[in-house]
Amino acid sequence: MLTLHTAGMTPAELQNYLQYAIAPRPICFASTIDKAGNVNLSPFSFFNLFGTNPPMCVFSPARRVRDNTTKHTLENVLEVGECVINIVSYGMVQQTSLASVEYPKGVNEFAKAGFTAIPSELVKPPRVAEAPVQLECLIRQVIPLGDQNGAGNLILAEVMIIHIQDSILDADGKIDQAKIDLVARLGGDWYCRVTKENLFKVAKPVKTIGIGVDSIPPSIRNSGILTGNNLGQLGNVEKLPTPEEIDCFRSSREIQEMLKETGTDRELREATIHAKAKALLDAGDVNTAWKILLIGS
Ligand SMILES: Cc1cc2nc3c(=O)[nH]c(=O)nc-3n(C[C@H](O)[C@H](O)[C@H](O)COP(=O)(O)O)c2cc1C
Repeated sequence: MLTLHTAGMTPAELQNYLQYAIAPRPICFASTIDKAGNVNLSPFSFFNLFGTNPPMCVFSPARRVRDNTTKHTLENVLEVGECVINIVSYGMVQQTSLASVEYPKGVNEFAKAGFTAIPSELVKPPRVAEAPVQLECLIRQVIPLGDQNGAGNLILAEVMIIHIQDSILDADGKIDQAKIDLVARLGGDWYCRVTKENLFKVAKPVKTIGIGVDSIPPSIRNSGILTGNNLGQLGNVEKLPTPEEIDCFRSSREIQEMLKETGTDRELREATIHAKAKALLDAGDVNTAWKILLIGS
């Protein structure tokens, strides 16, 4: 394993390793304005949501690694404490990248990148009409993380108004995760796209107290067939099926046939059961997977 101590590393090296590892990062496409009314539009992937009450986003225009200068976005929010965070979808990604070109101060990247500026309701910076979601924000705090090349500047932006394009809403008026077509930044020039095909669900453990992987019987926990993801699913149940449920399941035709086929060969039986359980878990049927595993243990 490569182990690196950050103290001896240059900002450029750190940027490389950390941006490849801490990924994908969502993209805040921030529009801001200076005191004279000049509009600026730039993307920032040092960005996330940090709380919902108050609804607070943070993004970070860092000091340039090259020459330690600061970015127009930072200068603007210090002059006029408002911004719009526009969310970037796949259809916007090339133009968004173009907007990151270091144009001189006063150049409007809406025009340079070919985006449509529409007025905001509350704040002075305009919104990007093409963005599927536009967040009108008031800047609550700016926290410099240092004064050397590469140092971040945390901009704490409270979301005041959320605008959402109708085309990404479902029948309940909520955002359809498959329709928003998000992109995110990774290391170097890499990006990724969230498509219907690569979305998957993980059951939230907050509603129940899962038994935990350490409570799974060792013969199951140490399986050579079940994966870490499978153990996570098994450990997320609150209680195991009852002996009655297991007996009932054991008497089903499929299980009786499997028991007959594997006969007295314990290893074959365990491998067959674990393979069946794995298939069930991969299909999301945790309850039946537990039943079949407990028949074999
Ligand atoms: C997708 C993407 C994400 C970026 N993320 C950041 C970031 O988080 N922080 C940063 O300082 N620069 C980031 N950049 C570079 C800035 O967008 C670039 O320096 C831009 O010119 C800053 O513009 P400004 O000086 O008008 O604010 C990113 C560029 C792209 C294309």
